[in-house]
Parts: sequence; structure tokens; C-alpha cells
Amino acid sequence: MTLKRTKIVDIFAPEMVGEQVCVKGWVRTRRGNKHVQFIALNDGSTIKNLQIVIDLEKFSEEELKPITTGSSLHVEGTLVASQGKGQTVEVQAQTVEIYGTADPDEYPLQKKGHTLEFLREKAHLRMRTNTFGAVFRIRHHLAFAIHKFFNDKGFFYMHTPLITGSDCEGAGDMFQVTTLDLGNLPKNEDGSNDYTQDFFGKPTSLTVSGQLEGELGATALGAIYTFGPTFRAENSNTPRHLAEFWMIEPEVAFNDITDNMDLAEEFIKYCVQYALDHCKDDIEFLNQMYDNTLIERLQGVLKQDFIRLSYTEGIKILEASGKKFEFPVKWGVDLQSEHERYLVEEHFKCPVILTDYPREIKAFYMKQNDDGKTVRAMDVLFPQIGEIIGGSEREENYDKLIGEIERRGIPMKDMWWYLETRKFGTVPHAGFGLGFERLILFVTGMANIRDVIPFPRTPNNAEF
Ligand code: 4AD
Ligand code: MG
Repeated sequence: MTLKRTKIVDIFAPEMVGEQVCVKGWVRTRRGNKHVQFIALNDGSTIKNLQIVIDLEKFSEEELKPITTGSSLHVEGTLVASQGKGQTVEVQAQTVEIYGTADPDEYPLQKKGHTLEFLREKAHLRMRTNTFGAVFRIRHHLAFAIHKFFNDKGFFYMHTPLITGSDCEGAGDMFQVTTLDLGNLPKNEDGSNDYTQDFFGKPTSLTVSGQLEGELGATALGAIYTFGPTFRAENSNTPRHLAEFWMIEPEVAFNDITDNMDLAEEFIKYCVQYALDHCKDDIEFLNQMYDNTLIERLQGVLKQDFIRLSYTEGIKILEASGKKFEFPVKWGVDLQSEHERYLVEEHFKCPVILTDYPREIKAFYMKQNDDGKTVRAMDVLFPQIGEIIGGSEREENYDKLIGEIERRGIPMKDMWWYLETRKFGTVPHAGFGLGFERLILFVTGMANIRDVIPFPRTPNNAEF
């Protein structure tokens, strides 16, 4: 009878000791002496390696030679309590089958301690390291937590299109989608491109946000959320920007800006708590390896009520700070990450929700305040990250919304379907967008957004 494989994550259960087990995985290290060899085996199910003990009375040196770092094995043997330090159990091997070798002269992860920059060049293999194993297990658990949070609250998961025919959100530069031959574009008489011959009969792009379609869902199903990839062709080479990133966008009918802030705060705290509860080993590893204030910072966020204040009050604090910022501060400017981080990390030492931003620096759809200068926007600002969430109450008044669209010169013909939410049974509503990778940055303590998505898309980088 063939023995069923046990995942390494399940092998540490007390009742497993004494059992005959079958394990499969990749070799992290092999060491030992003439009498006994020790293999650290990892199968990705946990950060913990399983120690395989090889008695050299049963195996020849020749048989073991191909077992080098990176090779893959199928091992059967008895699980016993370990005598050695560093592990509670180990497998006394009876049979070892080598699935695949990994030539030590060629395997890029042969040595430990590669830099994160080096590993970015090896994105196809880096998930086999402790660090990236931990990060991507945490990424999975956070994605699951997000669906659970909204499902438990009665929100509906809505799939919004990735290819869009409208260019109106204004959230960032867009990647065009076309099947036209770029070397031989069909032209109109006036020399412009003839998009009637393109796949959709009009210019199309990859979406920068699912919000506008999400509003259609919210004003029908009541409360929805999107969770999908979004694309921005901004040429910002920063540790916090990707050209392809994942965004979660809840949108709720009848919510105002306060409800929106409450939802955002509850949501982030839920995700952080979920990660602490379900990713303990991985978070502890990252805390130990990279940033020994990580766990403290995660717990800190859970304990505090986020500070809520207006943009105008925030500017006053920045002006009074006496700090020399690279980008000078005055009312009306868009806040830079240095300003956001000053408020969060130095002034309040707490996450901050800034509201009521100047109308001119925010999107057209945000609800206008009576002062005529500000809109009911909110940004959630986090330690180490800066902006993690952006959102607002939406302008539900048809005339005001049209006025703003015209004032900004947004092509109205692209907007007709959106405007009908305000024309037919309009309601107050609000929503926000959480950048998934920025949440993962916060929870893992990683410093660069390229290290929390398996295959980052950034300017000049789409290799894998
Ligand atoms: O503030 P943003 O642009 O808001 C929107 O897109 C709205 N439609 C959201 C809504 O109200 N439904 O983006 C939302 C969040 C930001 O706070 C940030 O966390 C993340 O998305 N984000 C990025 N993350 C990685 N790379 C980029 N280039 C990002 N741009 C925004
Ligand atoms: Mg924003």
C-alpha cells in the first residue's frame, strides 16, 4: 500500500510521533558526517523545515550525492521525537527518492543570505526562500481575510471589467488595449487613428479602478466590494508604486463619510488581526529577520482609535512643525508621503484619517462640501506606508456632478451610464479603495512593494 503524503505543516501535531510518514519537498540544506546526514526539507506549507535523518549504514555516499540544496525529494520513514536542538520531531529515513536534482554550480539559491535586490532578478525562484515563502503565505491569508470580512458583513463580491472604454476616473495614466497593427495604423481623413477598426470599435484601456462600475453595483445590491488587478502607467519608480496592483474597493449605498471611515478602520484592523492569528510563524520570522518592531507595530494599530482630522487641520500641524520638507506645504497642495508620514509617525504616532481635501486635488465624483472649496474625501495614512486607503462620500446630486464634469472638461459621452445612477433613484453612498500590496507591506514589514507581489510590474520590468 502506498503511503499518503503528509504536508510538513501537519507533521508537527503531537499524535504524529511514532507514525510511518511520507513527505515530499525541496532540500534547503544537507550537512552531517560519515555516520549520519541531516537534510532540512521544506514543502512550502510552512516556514518550518522538517529534519530528515539519514543513517549512512543504510544509504551510500553515492546515493546521497545528488541531494544538494534545491533538489526535490520523496522521503518515507518514521517520525520520531528529535534528540537534537532546533526541532521537536524528525524523520528517520527508510527510502529516499530523488525527483529532481539542482546543479550546485548553477542553482541561484545555492547560498543563503542573498539580497532582496538579487532575488528580484530571480522572481521565478524566490518563492522558495524563507522570506518570500512567508510573504506569499501572508498574502494568501490576507486575501482570504478580505473575502471573509465582506462576506460576513453581507457585501457582494462584484467583478468589474479590466478592459474599459472610459477614461474618466482620472486616477492615473492608462495602458491602452488594442489589436490594431501599431506599425500600420488605420487612419481617418484628418490623420487621426481610425479606432472603428479596432477590436471594440473604440479606444480602450486597462482599468485604473473598479469604482465607477462598483457604484452601479452598490446602487442596486446595496453593498458590494471589488477585489482585482488595476493598472496605472504612471512612471513612478518608488518603493510604493506598481504599474499592476490589486485593489479592494467596497462601495455602500446610504453610507456617509463617517460610515465610510468606520468601515475602513474596522476593515484594516480585521485584516491585521487575522494575519496575527493565522500567520504567526511567518510574521515572527519576518520580525526576527528584518524588523524587530513589526509585531509591536501591528499590535499598536489594533489598540488605537485612528485619529480623524481634516486636511486643513493637517496642513496647520505640518506648517507649525518647523520641519524642512522636500515639498513645501501650504493649503491646496497634494500631500506627499513625507508629509503623511510626519503626521502619522512623528506627530500623532497613530494611523490618521484625513478628510475634506481641497476639491482641486481630488476626483470629480467626490461629494462637495458647502464651503465650495473642499470635498468629502478621506485618506487613511499608515506608519511606514503613507496612504493605504483613498476614498470618499460620492456626489449624488445630478446637477452638481454634471457641473463638476463640465468644469473639468471630462468627455461627457463617456459618462452617460454613470450619470444615470444619479438620474434614477439617486442615493447617498460612499466607498474607498485599499491598495492590497500596501496592506501587505504593512503586515510583513517589507520595505519595497516589489517584494510583496510575486511578479512585479514596474517601468522597464515585465520579465517574468
Ligand atoms: O487613491 P486611489 O487612486 O483611489 C481610487 O482608485 C478610488 N477609485 C478608490 C475608491 O474610492 N473606490 O487608490 C486607492 C489605493 C491607494 O490608497 C493606494 O493604497 C493604492 O490604491 N494605490 C497603489 N498601490 C500600488 N501601486 C500604485 N501605483 C497605486 N496607486 C494607488
Ligand atoms: Mg489616493
